[in-house]
Amino acid sequence: MQNDLARILVSEEDIRSRIQELGADITRTYREMGTEEIVVICITNGSIMFAADLLRQINLYAQLDCIRVCSYQDDVNPVSEPEIVDNIRLDIAGQHVLLIDDILDTGRTLERIVHVLNDFAPQTLRTCVLLDKEGRREVGHEPDFAGFTIPNEFVVGYGLDFAERYRNLSCIGILKPELQNPPEWC
Ligand code: IMP
Ligand code: MG
Repeated sequence: MQNDLARILVSEEDIRSRIQELGADITRTYREMGTEEIVVICITNGSIMFAADLLRQINLYAQLDCIRVCSYQDDVNPVSEPEIVDNIRLDIAGQHVLLIDDILDTGRTLERIVHVLNDFAPQTLRTCVLLDKEGRREVGHEPDFAGFTIPNEFVVGYGLDFAERYRNLSCIGILKPELQNPPEWC
């Protein structure tokens, strides 16, 4: 799989150490608010690797739920209005909620989900993304916690896919341009 990458953008080691820092940062933030328990909501499928590793670096009680969103009209172009295809099951009213996604691109997905979750009246709602794509924002949503700022390239690995492939790469890299629309996958 690694041969399909034009180059590696974030190594496995860099992901691991940044997640340790993020976990400490998140733990400290909630402790300073006097909170010992949060509800973590991860956006599937993209954030499952990140959420699984990050959760184990957060030293707080954490309930976990998932929300499933469809953001893409084809394999590389996002739709203008992300659709929620499976909503949360936990009651988050009055809770401290941390929403986790893999990457913040146009910002539409997080903006939409934040809006939906706010209707359930959480006490606080914060967002955390592993990657923040520079210069791509179309709506105003900025994350409370972010791992790495990356250039405007289509990336795969560590949860991020192209046509559902490459999620199980342990690093994050730029897919070779000639592989971004191979005819046999269309
Ligand atoms: P946004 O709504 O434009 O911010 O897009 C966020 C969603 O698009 C993320 O949850 C990802 O699933 C997906 N996405 C954005 N950029 C990439 C990329 O470079 N590779 C893979 N998925 C991406
Ligand atoms: Mg995704």
